[in-house]
Amino acid sequence: MGNKRDIEPSIERDFSSQMSYGDYLRLDLLLAAQQPQSEPQLHDELLFIVQHQTSELWLKLMVHELRSARSLLAHDELAPALKRLARIKHIQRTLTDQWSVLATLTPSEYAEIRPFLATSSGFQSAQYREVEFLLGNKDADMVKVFDHDPSARDELATLLTEPSLYDEFLAYLARRGYAVPADVLDRDVTLPHTSSTGLIDVFAEVYAAPDAHWGVYETCEELVDVEDNFQQWRFRHLQVVQRVIGHKTGTGGSSGVSFLRRALDLTFFPELYEVRSRIGG
Ligand code: HEM
Repeated sequence: MGNKRDIEPSIERDFSSQMSYGDYLRLDLLLAAQQPQSEPQLHDELLFIVQHQTSELWLKLMVHELRSARSLLAHDELAPALKRLARIKHIQRTLTDQWSVLATLTPSEYAEIRPFLATSSGFQSAQYREVEFLLGNKDADMVKVFDHDPSARDELATLLTEPSLYDEFLAYLARRGYAVPADVLDRDVTLPHTSSTGLIDVFAEVYAAPDAHWGVYETCEELVDVEDNFQQWRFRHLQVVQRVIGHKTGTGGSSGVSFLRRALDLTFFPELYEVRSRIGG
């Protein structure tokens, strides 16, 4: 035995003419994409790059799943849409949990990297804005940030004009006979969704009799989970930023922590929170 595992004879080892793991995953491209700017290389710059790149990969999957959930709802396929939301929630948790890795970066270590970041900032993450747009936090001003990158700008500009996941859920409810107000259904989808009292009335009915509205009730709770998870990501980002740069301004030019804190007041599904004050006695 000798504390050695023999490679079984049937195990593939010659990839000169067949596809390997690295070929399939394009690891040549993926692992060549970490290009620290410091010279000589600062030890902690790789952490900074990997944390951002892994976040972008998870955001890519999240956009994919959100688009699919939205399309399933548009086709009245509630159960498969819920399956997508379940996966989205796990991605969000992974994104939130991974803040603990970056939280090991001290202010002194970051200060060394800071000059190499110049004006780049997560504020310029196109995929993050795609997620926000898909969830309904539309903002035409954000599209302009991507004028330097036509494919990202066009992608976002298209999403701006399309219904969000929530818009599709509300349209689904209307098709199922729920009294979703007409002004909500016909709203200008390029604007952020704002709270509707008539819609709170609809949800109040659902929450008053969960058994009679189970699929809808379950979807409402899944959406609240998604918003809750999103806010947790925002909060962990804020906390890490605060411990790393205090109240200094951001590389993207904002006031930093106070700008980020204002995002915690944004809401995707306001009625699903407001209905809670109406439940019970
Ligand atoms: C030590 C690490 C980090 C610091 C100090 C930091 C700091 C900041 C600051 C100050 C802002 C506000 C815009 C600005 O002025 O730049 C911001 C925005 C943002 N950052 Fe970070 N960040 C860090 C890591 C990350 C990571 C790992 C991600 C992952 C993708 C990320 C994603 C974002 C996003 C999406 C925004 C826009 C948020 C919004 O619009 O509310 N950041 N960051």
